[in-house]
Amino acid sequence: MGLDKHLSRAARAMHASAIRKVGDVGLSSRDVISLAPGYPDPTLFAWEEIRAIAGSILTGTDPTVLQYGATRGYRPLIEALPQLLDHRGIKATPDEIIITTGSQQGLDLCARVFLDAGDTALVELPAYTGAMTSFWNAQAHLVGVQQDAAGIDITDLDRVLNRERGAGRRVAFVYVVPNFQNPTGLLMTLARRAELLAWAAARDVLIIEDDPYGALYFDDVATGAETRPIKADDRDDRVVYLSSFSKTVAPGFRVAWIMAAPSFVERLEIAKQSADLCSSAIDQRFVYEIWRQGVMDSRLALLRGVYQQKRTVLEQALRRELGAHVIWPEPKGGFFLWASFVDGIDTDALLRRAIAHGVVFVPGSAFYVEPGHPNRARLSFSEQPAARIESAVARLASAVREELDLRGTSGRAPQAGLAAARKASEAQPPE
Ligand SMILES: Cc1ncc(COP(=O)(O)O)c(C=O)c1O
Repeated sequence: MGLDKHLSRAARAMHASAIRKVGDVGLSSRDVISLAPGYPDPTLFAWEEIRAIAGSILTGTDPTVLQYGATRGYRPLIEALPQLLDHRGIKATPDEIIITTGSQQGLDLCARVFLDAGDTALVELPAYTGAMTSFWNAQAHLVGVQQDAAGIDITDLDRVLNRERGAGRRVAFVYVVPNFQNPTGLLMTLARRAELLAWAAARDVLIIEDDPYGALYFDDVATGAETRPIKADDRDDRVVYLSSFSKTVAPGFRVAWIMAAPSFVERLEIAKQSADLCSSAIDQRFVYEIWRQGVMDSRLALLRGVYQQKRTVLEQALRRELGAHVIWPEPKGGFFLWASFVDGIDTDALLRRAIAHGVVFVPGSAFYVEPGHPNRARLSFSEQPAARIESAVARLASAVREELDLRGTSGRAPQAGLAAARKASEAQPPE
């Protein structure tokens, strides 16, 4: 009824999260198996310990548990984080830390503090949609940078930076997810991280490093040492580091943090005041107790093992059901497998067919700043039980076969297509 005229230009231009839209299909339809959202496995939440902690913090003797808290965050948690960061090789002090309501809020605060409308934000191709949405909604100009199997491509990064600066645009930062990137699952090599940091120093560019998955490496193919954050080697406050308890404790608490130069943290705190005054006091208490009692650390090995096993189940099912049609870089940790359909199937069209077969995933187009790359899909193996992952892949395979039959391409020698795609993917990595 003509209500749009009341909206700001910024609101009219806002992007909704593509993943949320797909996730909603999974939730609203009966017997649809969703490989769409990056949800942890709920059976891995420390239910018993959390129940006990609830009893201990809800006695009513400490009114601050249900009170407003400091914008910067619950002090004991802030003071505990340097210890946690030390295990990741990062030396931090409390004045470099601010608690955020999920890393998603951290990204949004970064957009407010580092971006002006029209500034360029550099992101990997493909990149995490939640970050892209925050940057877009701050009216940034998003520009994609190629990545290869080792991580972001420094030559392309330099080319893009020169082009943007040459066009008179301010490049606010480069956003990267070095550990088990969402959506590709790629682990940036240590050499590439060092190269990126040196490049950023030489070109005076800020790095936003988003690290929710680093603790979830799979020890059949990766080590903890390989997940060392770029921040660990940052000597001149060039890296703004975000991490979260969502994937290792539970996302329902919405507790995460940013570590950055104290002057940046002060600005982020001011931006946060107008966003939510403070993150939930009780949620921070829970997370602090979970950390203090060693509940989180003692469960990490279990989490790694279970997610590694699910990754294997998904890979085996894909090889069995769709081996001639799909290739992917092996996930070395995290929650995601990035599938490329070698017959050139358009995954937006495939999704519609897949829903009819009772399975959803996120089409690759959701992760790119520009149209293109229609044959990619992100498959999450984290939430579903192994048997459901197998059923999901069987359903996906039926949808793929139907799609290929309709296109009349199923008779094409798939192995030839596969060989050609493998060759292409060696030369031109998974993006
Ligand atoms: C790369 C990345 N950054 C940030 C987030 C947001 O996490 P949080 O639950 O801490 O808001 C996610 C969630 O999936 C993610 O994958």
